[in-house]
Amino acid sequence: MAEARVYATRPLPGGGFRRLAEQTRLAVWRGHAAPPRKTLEAELREAEGLLCLLTDPVDADLIASAPRLRVISSCSVGLDHVDLVAATARGIPVGHTPGVLAETTADLTLALMLAAARRLAEADRFVRSGAWKEWDPELLLGRDLHGSTVGLIGLGDIGQAVARRLVGFECRILGWTPSGRRVSGIEPVELDALLAAADFVSLHVALAPETRHLLDAGRLARMKPGAVLVNAARGGLVDETALAARLASGALSAAGLDVFEDEPPDPESPLLGLDNVVLTPHLGSASVRTRIRMADLAVENLLAGLAGRPLPACANPEARAGSAR
Ligand code: DGY
Repeated sequence: MAEARVYATRPLPGGGFRRLAEQTRLAVWRGHAAPPRKTLEAELREAEGLLCLLTDPVDADLIASAPRLRVISSCSVGLDHVDLVAATARGIPVGHTPGVLAETTADLTLALMLAAARRLAEADRFVRSGAWKEWDPELLLGRDLHGSTVGLIGLGDIGQAVARRLVGFECRILGWTPSGRRVSGIEPVELDALLAAADFVSLHVALAPETRHLLDAGRLARMKPGAVLVNAARGGLVDETALAARLASGALSAAGLDVFEDEPPDPESPLLGLDNVVLTPHLGSASVRTRIRMADLAVENLLAGLAGRPLPACANPEARAGSAR
């Protein structure tokens, strides 16, 4: 394995990445943004392992142009940037990082719920601007999270971690998943019923062709008047133009958004001009400890793939059967 050539699209924190450098012939892109496509293609002509991020599109053409590639490992739980079908067809296992980031992402989700509902970003701007003159019984009134009805769309590790926190806030918790999965303590409801009943709606499903714009103009219009929308999953789940219109009209009272259809969002995006939106730059898993755990798992996945062992967290275990044929 010491001879195996690996390309990493960014250096990662933690001891795992240092181990990878010792155990393989590792080339690392050290630019601030993702490597250009041409660089990726050139590196993958030789590489047997690819360690990538969610900002690196690993599509069918790229996979086809990588003749020696034996394993792809993404330092992310989401894999909407990787063509899993193409990788599986080539017998290439794809690793990702489920589980290790669920609690940290759930923390951020709660932070966004509270920040959006209690208008924290607006309040911060208000104090800094010097506009605050005195305590006022009607100043910057928001909405309560405690005791409210929260609708969770997606009940995987992160959705469930959010639900556990909401128990402490004495919320009624509704849940809908595309798979119809049921989780104890969460009332299963149809998507439209969830949208109509929830004071807060929070997204926790993966982005896939069937979930793109899951909340389109029609579904956003079915949300309870004055509800708060939180998205720490993927921007593509929501029609942002329709969302901005609902927020601007006051039909929805606020949104907390950590993810966007384009990241960073276009400076002309109507969302950026709205006071009732709290925006963060895709920080769901961004704690020191969690990012190290993600990096370590991504490296373990990569090393297992190079050694021909099952990946600890593999998104397409059927790829191994394909590669054995
Ligand atoms: C992921 O892992 O997919 C998150 O979006 C970033 O941690």
